[in-house]
Amino acid sequence: MPAASCSAKIHTLPDDVVSRIAAGEVIERPAAVVKELLENSLDAGGLHITIDVKDGGLAFIRVADDGEGINRVDLPRAFERHATSKLRSDRDLASVTTMGFRGEALPSIASVSHVLMTTATRQDTVGSQFALVAGAGGAIVDAPPIPGARIEVSNLFFNQPARKKFLKSTLTEFSHISHVVQLAGLAWPAVHFRLTHNGQEILNYPSVTAERDRILQVYRQAFLDRTIEVRGRAGGLSIRGVMVDPLHSRSSRTPQELFVNRRPIRNATVFHAVMDGYGSFLPKGNHPTFVLFLDIEPNRLDVNVHPTKKEVRFAETEALHQLVRHSVRHALSSSERKVLLSLSQAGLAPTGPEFAPAAERQVASLRDSQPAASISVRRQDSSGVDVSDAVSLSGVGEGNQLAFAHEPVMAYRRAEKFDIVPFGQILRTYLVAQVGEELHVIDQHTAHERVLFQRLWRGWQSRDIPSQPLLIPEPIELSAAQSMLLLKRCDDLEKLGLLIEPFGNSAVAIRGVPVGLGKVDAAVLVQDLLDDLTEWDSASSLELRVQPVLASLACHGAVRAGRPLTLPEIQQLIHDWVQEGLIMTCPHGRRTAFRLSTDELAKLFGRVGWA
Ligand SMILES: Nc1ncnc2c1ncn2[C@@H]1O[C@H](COP(=O)(O)OP(=O)(O)O)[C@@H](O)[C@H]1O
Ligand SMILES: [Mg+2]
Repeated sequence: MPAASCSAKIHTLPDDVVSRIAAGEVIERPAAVVKELLENSLDAGGLHITIDVKDGGLAFIRVADDGEGINRVDLPRAFERHATSKLRSDRDLASVTTMGFRGEALPSIASVSHVLMTTATRQDTVGSQFALVAGAGGAIVDAPPIPGARIEVSNLFFNQPARKKFLKSTLTEFSHISHVVQLAGLAWPAVHFRLTHNGQEILNYPSVTAERDRILQVYRQAFLDRTIEVRGRAGGLSIRGVMVDPLHSRSSRTPQELFVNRRPIRNATVFHAVMDGYGSFLPKGNHPTFVLFLDIEPNRLDVNVHPTKKEVRFAETEALHQLVRHSVRHALSSSERKVLLSLSQAGLAPTGPEFAPAAERQVASLRDSQPAASISVRRQDSSGVDVSDAVSLSGVGEGNQLAFAHEPVMAYRRAEKFDIVPFGQILRTYLVAQVGEELHVIDQHTAHERVLFQRLWRGWQSRDIPSQPLLIPEPIELSAAQSMLLLKRCDDLEKLGLLIEPFGNSAVAIRGVPVGLGKVDAAVLVQDLLDDLTEWDSASSLELRVQPVLASLACHGAVRAGRPLTLPEIQQLIHDWVQEGLIMTCPHGRRTAFRLSTDELAKLFGRVGWA
């Protein structure tokens, strides 16, 4: 009898637990084998994990770890259905802390392949090796006592020709495998992962302490440069990670990775909340990209909902949505505060000829009425554990306030990039300029619309949108229902700087509009306002009611396409737009500018290689 440790740890789950386990096919392709084996290695505490694959995983997959290993008594049990060391009772199923918990992976893999498992625990002086073909195991033989587990899976699906037919090319199957390894890598930065394909090293992530460094290993500096950090915490929930700065967003959707307690998952609630957090700041057709880590107490999460564990169910979806949305907004607005600070430090306060009527300066000054306390520099800590600057959402009221106080405004973070050299206008619609080191083509209408919107929005936040009277109020004929709708809201509209009065039976007249707007076609504006007000009652928050109205005002007050502009006017408009944070969309989501960086220009003209 070899000197192997023999206390059994693996048990078959009782029937009542088995019956509650989300059933379904666990192994649908080679990447699923790798995912399950990686999870086992991580659950076993492996710190160095090597994955060697041949022919997209169909010919051969080997996962070797230096974790706790399996003792000889347990080895055959590990391949029995519903046998696990991670779960005992129903109660454990309600708060799972390991990646695996169903005892299904090894038997599922073994039943469709040839398996050879070699393993030893730290106490073993002799290791064990166990071979299985289509799930049937032979005798256990001695092996060198190398602590950890090494499992080799060959001829996958050899007894399932139908399944094999559904697989894609070797390259596609391998790309799924490397994605699985990337995800495990992102979630476990302290673990060293190495992946080879047909003998060639494809991925190598040496152990790091900071999550950010692992993101760097996986996605490179170019990705990190385009992102901003997200951090937030509320109740027992926390979120951290990086997401694309809208200024640098692209049409690509990768990466969009979400981890919940280190498990890579897909979740519509979180995705929706991220989109909500970005609001209109992502140009249409651009997608958010992100790597986000959510942590939540295991008992507030059901991981047992999907056969391959790709989905989870949250106990408090509403709180989760709020936290994610607010944290995304907070991250965006933090970058604004950094800009404000760097601008004032660099002495780059707005100057130059005024583009808009003099009265606009009054509104512009609202911008400076931000309380000094809101200007702070965030600590750029990459340890991934500091949540000192996290969003606090303990009270609902507080949460709402936060949303109003930090309307996100994106901006360049380097003040030296603010030099503007305007070249002129093309097609009487687009402005061409050098902004910092970039070539910009700016839509004069949408960019001006964004500037006006940001100013109105700040005015509304500080409860002060001054109104300028219209010299000759113009009566606008409406239906009785329309004029009632408008007049019912006339107090609310007054707070937005819009003065409306009844005029005769069913007509109304606009007596004043917010200061700073250009020439407004009152009749068309009123039509748009009627649309906004129809939605008024159904909007869930005051913020959502006011935004469309302010957007309509900004749109009508902004310089139209087709209007010729002088060079000083162009300079002023671009200056204001840059000052407001170079936001790439108008409040309706249309693009404000098209930008080409020095690098992009150099690439276009073949001045650099393809790298
Ligand atoms: N790499 C490994 N190192 C140590 N133990 C392992 C390893 N892989 C599997 N095991 C053991 O085999 C058991 C069965 O594995 P598996 O079928 O994946 O089910 P589960 O992970 O759900 O428990 C695990 O509970 C664990 O005790
Ligand atoms: Mg497992």
